[in-house]
Amino acid sequence: MKTSSAIYPGTFDPVTNGHLDIIERSSKLFGQVVVAILVNPQKEPLFSSEERAELIRQSISSGATNVEVAVFRGLLVDYANERKADVIIRGIRAISDYEYELQMALMNRRLRPDIETLFMLPAENYSYLSSRLVREIAENSGSIEGLVPDVVEKALKGIFKQ
Ligand code: PNS
Repeated sequence: MKTSSAIYPGTFDPVTNGHLDIIERSSKLFGQVVVAILVNPQKEPLFSSEERAELIRQSISSGATNVEVAVFRGLLVDYANERKADVIIRGIRAISDYEYELQMALMNRRLRPDIETLFMLPAENYSYLSSRLVREIAENSGSIEGLVPDVVEKALKGIFKQ
């Protein structure tokens, strides 16, 4: 399995400790992991795609030399193919994630049967964590300590001027 290349796609607005947990776990399983940030013209993100990429780069542990952070547009399976990734990694926190993830995984399989989706579980203390909740808490001056890396906490404080 170590020789395979995997892609870990998402919005990452912003990256959380739950995402980092999945990145670290997958970097031990695959030869290369591309963390792929979607540029979605229909969504108004809090952080630009380049800011999101930089926050992830600054947060991943220095030992994870096989992890690359990139941005992509268009279909995930096309980008995975372009990057020669044969596995898509998605983190599943709770059963409520499953329905959406199943739909996406099966559609991606229909589009490109040669690319496999792998569901991974983050550490259980991150099972209730999401970027949306982090944004909401930060916007309302709540504590996000321990939920996101320090650089993200600082960046959020900068935006919401706490
Ligand atoms: O972190 P998210 O927002 O749950 O990630 C969703 C993401 C980026 C993985 C998904 O929206 C995606 O792959 N978008 C790219 C467009 C695409 O391929 N759509 C068809 C999916 S079946």
